[in-house]
Amino acid sequence: MNAPFRVALSGDFRKADGSPVYPDFDLEPLRKAPNVEFAYLEPRNPVEAGQIEDFDALILLGHRFTKDSIHPNGRLAVVARFGVGYDTVDVEACTKAGIALAITPDGVRRPVAVSIITFILALSGKLMMKDRLTREGAAGFARRGDHMGLGLVGRTLGSIGIGNIGAELFRLIKPFEMKLIAHDPVADKKLAGGLGVELVQLEDVFRRSDFVSVSCPLTPQTRHLVNAGRLALMKPTAYLINTARGPIVDQNALTKALEERRIAGAGLDVLEKEPPDADDPILKLDNVILAPHALCWTDQCFAGNGAADVRAVLDVRNGREPRVVVNREVLETAAWKNRLAGFRKRFPA
Ligand SMILES: NC(=O)c1ccc[n+]([C@@H]2O[C@H](COP(=O)([O-])OP(=O)(O)OC[C@H]3O[C@@H](n4cnc5c(N)ncnc54)[C@H](O)[C@@H]3O)[C@@H](O)[C@H]2O)c1
Repeated sequence: MNAPFRVALSGDFRKADGSPVYPDFDLEPLRKAPNVEFAYLEPRNPVEAGQIEDFDALILLGHRFTKDSIHPNGRLAVVARFGVGYDTVDVEACTKAGIALAITPDGVRRPVAVSIITFILALSGKLMMKDRLTREGAAGFARRGDHMGLGLVGRTLGSIGIGNIGAELFRLIKPFEMKLIAHDPVADKKLAGGLGVELVQLEDVFRRSDFVSVSCPLTPQTRHLVNAGRLALMKPTAYLINTARGPIVDQNALTKALEERRIAGAGLDVLEKEPPDADDPILKLDNVILAPHALCWTDQCFAGNGAADVRAVLDVRNGREPRVVVNREVLETAAWKNRLAGFRKRFPA
């Protein structure tokens, strides 16, 4: 009998008591696949090389995977990120080691786009303030006229990034009859045109939008892309929404702009430091709505990410390329092709 194809799941899929954090994540396809075993790693962050020595595949939640996570025995063939952000993974080191990095755009596309719309609706409707007013009773009701919301028809929604999530946001927001603009250095012009999105310069997204939404990856080029200078271009009535990654926004500059009421408010699912320090001044502000990097977490989001990752690792076990690979250059190497051929030989269909 051939040695089994072994799949590791990063330690953060389980609580300290060993119970699963996300029960809706369906592992049945791994259980049913012949000659496949899986196991949870101890919660080590970053993942340690010794932990993955005996595994062919790793399903990786939030833990980091660095160059030191790679075992020199060369057994690991694929890291399947549970989500689409991969700033926690050393992609270059994976590529050098012949490890494919798979991600799950199908799992997050709708849930994150819905999170952005949740922020747009909550901010424009002053939902948090109205909740507080109601709890104050008569005194709160008496002040409700001071908190008019912002109607959305004809208002401008600008996205930094029109990729998987940015495009879905524009698809879903259509019935709200907003003007749609976006900046993306590699925008698909046909896609943008089809969605009725005007492609503009980065600065124009800040100048023109009533809602600026961030949907680009965190890279050295996008770190602090939303800085004091660009925040200063925003209208005083405009809102900033970030569901991408915290460090894309200079949080000190944003906190200052919010404190000084130079913009109307913000919706942030992500922060520069997660979790934030207890004395982080952003926690004191009443013109920001915060979420703990989990606004998109729904049963369907986890089921979708899990299904995509399970499919990706089983694809490799079956000697096929996973559907969405970040470091596609790996797939062209002789080492990778030999590796897949090896799996096909080990596990004939
Ligand atoms: N909050 C969450 O739980 C959560 C969940 C999923 C994804 N995310 C984040 O959302 C990001 C976007 O996800 P996606 O699936 O849409 O990725 P994607 O790769 O499909 O799209 C990102 C787009 O951003 C563009 N971009 C790159 N640099 C840019 C720049 N300087 N200015 C403007 N656009 C730029 C890219 O060209 C691309 O079109 C991810 O990188 C991830 O960090 C967050």
